Amino acid sequence: MEIKRIIDRAYDFEEEQQQALDEGRITEEEWYEIKTAHFTEHYLSADNPRAQSGHGGDEQHYFHNHFMLMDTMTKSGTFIDVGCANGHLIESLHQWITALNRIQIDFYGLDISEGLIELARKRLPDWKDKFTIGNAFGWAPEKKFDYVCVKELAYVPRNKRKAFFEHLYLHYVADQGRLILGPCSEEKASRETEDQLISWGYTPSGYIERSHNRSVHVARRVFYFDKKG
Ligand SMILES: C[S@@+](CC[C@H](N)C(=O)[O-])C[C@H]1O[C@@H](n2cnc3c(N)ncnc32)[C@H](O)[C@@H]1O
Repeated sequence: MEIKRIIDRAYDFEEEQQQALDEGRITEEEWYEIKTAHFTEHYLSADNPRAQSGHGGDEQHYFHNHFMLMDTMTKSGTFIDVGCANGHLIESLHQWITALNRIQIDFYGLDISEGLIELARKRLPDWKDKFTIGNAFGWAPEKKFDYVCVKELAYVPRNKRKAFFEHLYLHYVADQGRLILGPCSEEKASRETEDQLISWGYTPSGYIERSHNRSVHVARRVFYFDKKG
């Protein structure tokens, strides 16, 4: 159980909400509302940009956990962070890419939380038109993206995750584009995420893995799926 909490600090809360939904004590609409209110309050009460995007560690830990995404971007293009919170991830990726001066990426962000998008627009005023408020499951962009990054599929109820993944793949990712899942944490010995995706008919085109900084038994994994045009 301890490993479960390293993997997902909000594990107990997430399980409670899923159970309430499964037992019919809340509707799906309420499930989204409760979760959004909870995470918005939690993130907005934080005093640094990492925590305002849901990350509990210091700057080095953030770098350790997220720099691995750089390996998924091999050519210039557009990139959307689905569930971007305060925009810290795309801001960081932009800084790292600019420092390396290798490729050009045009960043966008989408989040279900009005409060977090307001904060993203305030923090990154040059990008204010690049942030959208919306439920990623219902929303579809006018123009598809070369890179679509979603940290996890738990943004929708458990029985909708396959449909959510398909929605992102079909409606967000451009031809020759890439859907990126992660970085997410998983028990090192487990292949649960990969097996699940394969059972849905999506075999990863590639993956990146490193150890979690708090436990060698936990892996940080990024899976990516290339869309042939
Ligand atoms: C852990 S934060 C991730 C922040 C950022 N992507 C990163 O990796 O640093 C998850 C964000 O997803 C947003 N989110 C959750 N469910 C969503 C949904 N159905 N549609 C859009 N955003 C959602 C939350 O409001 C939250 O800001």
